[in-house]
Amino acid sequence: MQNHHFMATPILILIIPLVLLFPSFSFSTPHIYSMSEGSSLSVEKPDNVLISPNGVFSAGFYSVGINAYCFAIWYREPLYDGSHTTVWMANRDQPINGRQSKLTLLKNGNLILTDAGQLNVWATNTESISSVQLLLNDTGNLVLLTSEGLILWQSFQSPTDTLLPYQPLTRNTKLVSSLSQNNYSSGFYKLFFDEENVLSLVYDGLEISSKYWPDPWLKSWEAKRSSYNSSRIAVFNSSGHFKSTDDFQFIAADSGIGIQRRLTMDHDGNIRMYSLDEKNKIWNVTWQAKSQPCKIHGICGPNSLCTYVPHEKSGRRCSCIPGYKIKNETDQSLGCEPNFNFSCNDSEIGFLHLPHVEFYGYDDSMVCENYTYKWCVNKCLQSCNCYGFQYKINLGSGFYNCYRKTLLLNGHRSPSFEGDMYIKLPNASIRFYKSHVQGFNSDCSHPLSLQLDRSYKKPKENGTLQFMVWFASAIGGVEIICICLVLYLLYRSRQNSSATTQSYFQVATGFRKFTYDELKKATRNFGEEIGRGSGGVVYKGVLSNRRVAAIKRLNEAKQGEDEFLAEVSTIGRVNHMNLIEVWGYCVDGKHRLLVYEYMERGSLAENLTSNALDWEKRFYIAVGSAKGLAYLHDECLEWVLHCDVKPQNILLDSNYQPKVADFGLSKLLNRGDGHHSGFSRVRGTRGYMAPEWIFNFRITSKVDVYSYGVVVLEMVTGKSPMIGLHTSDNSGEMEQRGLVKWVREKKNENVSKELWLEEIIDPMMKDRYDASKMEILVEVALQCADEDKDARPTMSQVVERLLHHEATLLMCFCVAVMLLEPGMNLGNLLVVAGLAVGYSGVCSCSGVG
Ligand SMILES: *[C@@H]1O[C@H](CO)[C@@H](O)[C@H](O)[C@H]1NC(C)=O
Ligand SMILES: *[C@@H]1O[C@H](CO)[C@@H](O)[C@H](O)[C@H]1NC(C)=O
Ligand SMILES: *[C@@H]1O[C@H](CO)[C@@H](O)[C@H](O)[C@H]1NC(C)=O
Ligand SMILES: *[C@@H]1O[C@H](CO)[C@@H](O)[C@H](O)[C@H]1NC(C)=O
Ligand SMILES: *[C@@H]1O[C@H](CO)[C@@H](O)[C@H](O)[C@H]1NC(C)=O
Ligand SMILES: *[C@@H]1O[C@H](CO)[C@@H](O)[C@H](O)[C@H]1NC(C)=O
Ligand SMILES: *[C@@H]1O[C@H](CO)[C@@H](O)[C@H](O)[C@H]1NC(C)=O
Ligand SMILES: *[C@@H]1O[C@H](CO)[C@@H](O)[C@H](O)[C@H]1NC(C)=O
Ligand SMILES: *[C@@H]1O[C@H](CO)[C@@H](O)[C@H](O)[C@H]1NC(C)=O
Ligand SMILES: *[C@@H]1O[C@H](CO)[C@@H](O)[C@H](O)[C@H]1NC(C)=O
Repeated sequence: MQNHHFMATPILILIIPLVLLFPSFSFSTPHIYSMSEGSSLSVEKPDNVLISPNGVFSAGFYSVGINAYCFAIWYREPLYDGSHTTVWMANRDQPINGRQSKLTLLKNGNLILTDAGQLNVWATNTESISSVQLLLNDTGNLVLLTSEGLILWQSFQSPTDTLLPYQPLTRNTKLVSSLSQNNYSSGFYKLFFDEENVLSLVYDGLEISSKYWPDPWLKSWEAKRSSYNSSRIAVFNSSGHFKSTDDFQFIAADSGIGIQRRLTMDHDGNIRMYSLDEKNKIWNVTWQAKSQPCKIHGICGPNSLCTYVPHEKSGRRCSCIPGYKIKNETDQSLGCEPNFNFSCNDSEIGFLHLPHVEFYGYDDSMVCENYTYKWCVNKCLQSCNCYGFQYKINLGSGFYNCYRKTLLLNGHRSPSFEGDMYIKLPNASIRFYKSHVQGFNSDCSHPLSLQLDRSYKKPKENGTLQFMVWFASAIGGVEIICICLVLYLLYRSRQNSSATTQSYFQVATGFRKFTYDELKKATRNFGEEIGRGSGGVVYKGVLSNRRVAAIKRLNEAKQGEDEFLAEVSTIGRVNHMNLIEVWGYCVDGKHRLLVYEYMERGSLAENLTSNALDWEKRFYIAVGSAKGLAYLHDECLEWVLHCDVKPQNILLDSNYQPKVADFGLSKLLNRGDGHHSGFSRVRGTRGYMAPEWIFNFRITSKVDVYSYGVVVLEMVTGKSPMIGLHTSDNSGEMEQRGLVKWVREKKNENVSKELWLEEIIDPMMKDRYDASKMEILVEVALQCADEDKDARPTMSQVVERLLHHEATLLMCFCVAVMLLEPGMNLGNLLVVAGLAVGYSGVCSCSGVG
């Protein structure tokens, strides 16, 4: 608090002369329309902003991070989410301190930005003997004007990432993207006139730079650009008509006057024109340079592939090519690096075929003759720094061309690309990788198993912990620290399990092939049957290393050995603490077996009937199974649909940690007869099956979400999903919704939540549950079991919602304790608030105390 009094004096000293100088500036009307010599704007006064006469633009200090500000121009009217759109920044690469920094118009006509009262961060370096004033024009142009009306300096002449109507892009200016959505520093994408007078988009990275618009393989005239006019000016007018001296032009989709427009070099490498939708307060794209996001260079970094993913916000996703692993998990643009040691010995090298994949640039092209594949292979083998080659037919000549790659950059996969890529890999492992590239041929629209190569680590827990430690010592109140830290750690340790969860590994280390005799011996001639599931009988066995295993003998042996291996090795690579671990397999003649870890406590179904589970356990089983399923569905492993989620397939270990079993089998048992996403036969178990199966709709991961919803309802109510149905009634539709319908009806009948919860809950748990958690659980389950698959959440959303609830409660409690604590100062409060917000986004009890 003392700090504040201390700070107030200089502010007052600063403001008083300002007030005297400008009649327009006073405490009652904080709007400033212009600023004259000797005056300044202070970062500590949020009201200290210049406003354009029409009220559309503001210029002032814009917060770009914690205690970091840039002097910027933005649209005054906030968007629907309260954010502001900046159009210009003075010091994007050198943000200033939130204290004592200011923008000053010196008596000599120089406009300077000083950081914390000392360091000169930015200046216009202008000079004038006549008097000068700074004003923000209606167009969004910040202008330094002399009393004679001469423009000394204007922001329109030094754009950052945005052009406004009538703001020209010239030979001396360029648009430079931001680094990311939240970091306004200069990024790597640029729009400017190149040395041939052509307006171009260029990725200008740390190590490489390449042009990607207009299409770099086209000559300027082929791209309908002229390189003859060297005036190099591009500008658009208020109706959205853009014109450049290289003959490039376009009209915004909604051309017309009276609309706010901007042209922005976005951080994702695309340049877009936007119009403000004043009603909804959003920016609508009315033009963009690249329609295919994967054709923007530098997105995924070396040795990785960009794939078009329409349902994602960015529209694309990066993945490593087979045999490579991600270089730095925190920064995708750094790409991937080989998982193996490159050899120059011909006999140790093989080539892996990636259809419809292109890596642009960095090659020597051989296009003069009709080359054979063999010839290309030899050419690449001859050169140690050839990492692969593109083999592609030239439609013009009818020749097959060969492009030897010395770097694998700008990779993307698109079905429309008629060409194949062959990458160099150790010959010894080619077979292994081949089985993992099957995704390329699959009809699934996502990038597939390649992503398995990435091992995820939880992003820096250390940071949070350090922060906690720092913040704790700042408080001084030992008891608070203890309570909160302990709570936090408790919460973490619960989460901890989920932390390990999120990291998965290359190949499960123990994954191996067993012989039939070995397994026969282990199970003592298949003596002890412990279960019967889809596709086979499960036996208990003891392996030679004394580990107890569950061994599943598959009924159908339709597949060839290779096919079976391909599938099994993929299942084998799936490694998550909430998924049953596969230790190995056996292929021997007709026999097909899978070896799993053995779970002491058996299945959820058995535990439910024996009433062994209290409320706590049930909740964590719900969360754990959701995590396991989320993992299966995520990362575009969508083909690992479970298709048979039910209590019999959720197994419990000695700590009642759930593990989902039997995944991957649906595909394993049924290859080759699929048409709908690979599934033709109805699969699953009565009572848990999503309506899609019955109505023969497209099968997606949402079928598992539905089944999961039913399972959770069963756990909560202790009732079978077939409740209230005539079991003889086999007409599909009715049969489906017994339990779901019943719970929904109970919920709608009763106004009070205590009542309906009380009614549906398993009598075994009566009075021994947490009502608010229970309510969330039931609500999530009902949503999962929605008839409409699009209304169901994804499994990751389910996990988020179940866990989010916990985090919020914990943080709110902490905030409450701190607020009640005397001797709390503002800084600490802010830290706590920051933490709380960071955790939950909406800590609803900030009003406590
Ligand atoms: C933005 O990124 C730059 C470069 O990585 C970094 O130095 C800077 O701290 C970041 N700024 C913010 C606000 O995160
Ligand atoms: C300010 O904008 C008006 C139109 O709104 C324009 O006529 C005038 O030239 C602009 N002044 C400067 C200095 O850009
Ligand atoms: C913008 O430019 C186009 C093409 O030159 C023209 O038709 C249109 O009238 C202009 N709009 C305004 C507001 O000047
Ligand atoms: C270049 O373009 C400008 C603006 O469109 C035009 O005024 C000028 O005459 C052109 N110069 C040549 C040499 O075509
Ligand atoms: C902007 O886009 C939204 C959603 O795409 C649409 O509903 C709205 O009508 C658009 N606004 C304008 C002015 O075109
Ligand atoms: C990954 O990148 C981050 C930020 O760019 C850096 O701090 C970190 O050290 C890098 N990690 C590795 C393993 O290089
Ligand atoms: C690559 O070679 C280095 C040393 O030459 C060795 O330590 C490493 O294990 C090798 N990596 C692989 C994947 O073979
Ligand atoms: C290449 O590898 C093969 C098999 O690994 C080996 O027999 C041969 O000696 C190697 N050749 C050279 C030149 O190292
Ligand atoms: C790779 O190994 C296979 C046998 O596994 C062999 O037929 C093939 O010739 C090898 N490839 C090269 C390039 O040596
Ligand atoms: C080039 O070779 C392929 C076979 O490798 C052949 O099918 C094709 O017709 C040849 N093209 C020309 C133009 O000779």
